[in-house]
Amino acid sequence: MANWNNINLNLNVRGLSPSATLAINEKSLELIKSGRQVYRMGLGQSPFPVPERVVQALRDNAHQKAYLPVKGLPLLREAVAGFNKHTQGIETLPENVMIGPGSKELIFLLQLVYYGDLVIPTPSWVSYSPQARIVGRHVYWVQTSADNFWRLSPDQLDKICRTDPLRPRIVILNYPSNPSGYTYPLERLKELARVARKYRVILVSDEIYGLLHFNHQHVSVARFYPEGTIISSGLSKWCGAGGWRLGTFSYPPQLDWLRDAMAIVASETYTATSAPIQYAAVTAFQGGEDIETYLFHSRRILKALAKYLVKRLSEINIRIPMPQGAFYLFPDFGLYREKLAERGIFTSVEMCKALLEETGVAILPGYDFGREPAELTARLAFVDFEGEPALAATHGDYLDREIDESFIRNYAPRLVRAFDLLNGWFASL
Ligand SMILES: Cc1ncc(COP(=O)(O)O)c(C=O)c1O
Repeated sequence: MANWNNINLNLNVRGLSPSATLAINEKSLELIKSGRQVYRMGLGQSPFPVPERVVQALRDNAHQKAYLPVKGLPLLREAVAGFNKHTQGIETLPENVMIGPGSKELIFLLQLVYYGDLVIPTPSWVSYSPQARIVGRHVYWVQTSADNFWRLSPDQLDKICRTDPLRPRIVILNYPSNPSGYTYPLERLKELARVARKYRVILVSDEIYGLLHFNHQHVSVARFYPEGTIISSGLSKWCGAGGWRLGTFSYPPQLDWLRDAMAIVASETYTATSAPIQYAAVTAFQGGEDIETYLFHSRRILKALAKYLVKRLSEINIRIPMPQGAFYLFPDFGLYREKLAERGIFTSVEMCKALLEETGVAILPGYDFGREPAELTARLAFVDFEGEPALAATHGDYLDREIDESFIRNYAPRLVRAFDLLNGWFASL
């Protein structure tokens, strides 16, 4: 019999470290198990419940047991096309919508089937670049800065493309952004679209937080570069259904060959997205007054929290402009560099680790989003509160009242406490 101890089978495994977000979550769970209180500002999971009518639709469709078409349930593809029309005025043919088990999987499939470089601004969401590495694509990080709201500029994009104009490229734009919460102004989108068209790059417009633009003013770049833009979205953020695993890609007719290539790989891997979830998603994408109301109040709460937390950060002299959507802040704690260095802390990873161990506050280091190790940025996800009672209060006592600090103290006490601890930690360095 073979002696398994002597064989280094693990050398045959395509090795990558686990997703950064999951790693901090696991560390947090470890601390919780050992009896410690942890404030979870690491994982970007929506705090809000799935709207009741969508949950009911899932109950009603629990019996749906057949495999669905690989590109998705036709009714759902129609609903997503209608959603694009309704929210952005964009015409999408239902056959050009593809449904997948999360937009993450769809972005991965795209990178797998398309032989092109990946161009992403830094900071960017944690998974784009590891996905590219898994499938052996070259990643081109574009440096951005806090002064520019961490945005990719049209000049930067032009400069990259100019060096090798015919090279195939995928550029991912995510707005409102994870990790910063900032979005692109209309004029900037138009200019980016112009450059993208000039070099025929494939734009992936990751609009998973689009409906969580605080002022409900999200604009898709697909309006200005329809022929080359894939809109990526899903149920995870605006509908509070991350665990349901449903994502959508909306393609222009010009990219139907990409859609078909992705569908072939999908058919040989996950076959189709879960049937009951797809039926329930029809209700979500068709929308209605109740869902509009749910979104209206979700945005109100998130905006008020962002405002409060930006103010809390200023108490320790960390000043950042107000984000425009989603549930993230991306401050730079560089002001504390010397004091941190005195404690042997030189990188964002070390900073977040020490903060977690010493205060129980879990945040993610800027390094995980493509920033230089020594830059002391971090992402704070302000989701550690109960979304259900908070939403109920906005329908009740707070229907016509501004969401003020007393609301935040009552309905997001853990966030308040987390910021007390975080501020206390930096102040005591
Ligand atoms: C920017 C961004 N894009 C895509 C995703 C993937 O979402 P899902 O796979 O749940 O659709 C996330 C999830 O955190 C995200 O933050």
